[in-house]
Amino acid sequence: MILVTAATGQYGRLVVEALLQKVAPKEVAVAVRHPEKARDLREHGVSVRQADYDDLSSLHAAFDGITDLLFISSPEFEIPTRMAQHERVIEGAKRARVRHVAYTSFLGAQNEQPGGFNAHYLTERALEKSGLTCTFLRHPFYTEALVNPGLLKDAMTSGRVKDASGGKAINTASRADLAAAAAAVLAGSGEKGKPLELTGTPWTFSQLAEAIGRATGQTISVETISSKEAGPFGWLFDLIAAGLYERETPDLARLIGRQPMSIDDFVATVVRTSRS
Ligand SMILES: NC(=O)c1ccc[n+]([C@@H]2O[C@H](COP(=O)([O-])OP(=O)(O)OC[C@H]3O[C@@H](n4cnc5c(N)ncnc54)[C@H](OP(=O)(O)O)[C@@H]3O)[C@@H](O)[C@H]2O)c1
Repeated sequence: MILVTAATGQYGRLVVEALLQKVAPKEVAVAVRHPEKARDLREHGVSVRQADYDDLSSLHAAFDGITDLLFISSPEFEIPTRMAQHERVIEGAKRARVRHVAYTSFLGAQNEQPGGFNAHYLTERALEKSGLTCTFLRHPFYTEALVNPGLLKDAMTSGRVKDASGGKAINTASRADLAAAAAAVLAGSGEKGKPLELTGTPWTFSQLAEAIGRATGQTISVETISSKEAGPFGWLFDLIAAGLYERETPDLARLIGRQPMSIDDFVATVVRTSRS
């Protein structure tokens, strides 16, 4: 039986949806903090179990009888709290004798990382040490995290997209494509036990401006700014400008059996949905 943690979150829900297209509901379980939020899944025949990353015994109990576990990283920001939660998930999986754990890591987590990203490096190492068979699903930034309704509204109002990337590209992927990849790993047999580098198609902020223009029928130009002027996103622009996120790998396309969603299709979908 396959279990997905944090299944009431935005990514977790998409994984369960993708899994249910591949396996019967009786083969799927979820571990969630608030089971009432997963009532629809229970009605569909999915086993809904209560578990909290802050409570080891709840995790141990929830993982009973599970062969494949999708361990979705905690949204907690502080590394010590996040790592204590992750250590509990790993310990719960060990105690329940889970056969295989897939962990939602981040690109680059084979090496130590700056700031909060280091939690992924530390979690990968803790999983390796645990003796469990592990698959690291190394995610890029979600496209949704960057191309969010706030950015689109701002672009449509001002006619501009702010860019401090120095023209460098960033490789993002939609939550739905990453969820489909996780479902393929969990329900298949061929891709377990190794790191998977999941990248979409890189795009630049000029291409983003063009995509918004095409989707809205407006003229959207690029306003070049410094990373200092980019406010809370300044650190991210510095990393993009250093070329850290330009890499393209074949793993995501291979797992989902098609090209990941392009920035054009992503923007068109968000604009269409916001208008309907
Ligand atoms: N790659 C990226 O760009 C990116 C961006 C953002 C986040 N992330 C990471 O990817 C994960 C999934 O993203 P998302 O967009 O699905 O986030 P999300 O929608 O905020 O969902 C987070 C999930 O974590 C659950 N959770 C929080 N604290 C918990 C605890 N103590 N015990 C058990 N479950 C707990 C929440 O449960 P409730 O439903 O009960 O609230 C929710 O289901 C995040 O947690 C974060 O680690 C990645």
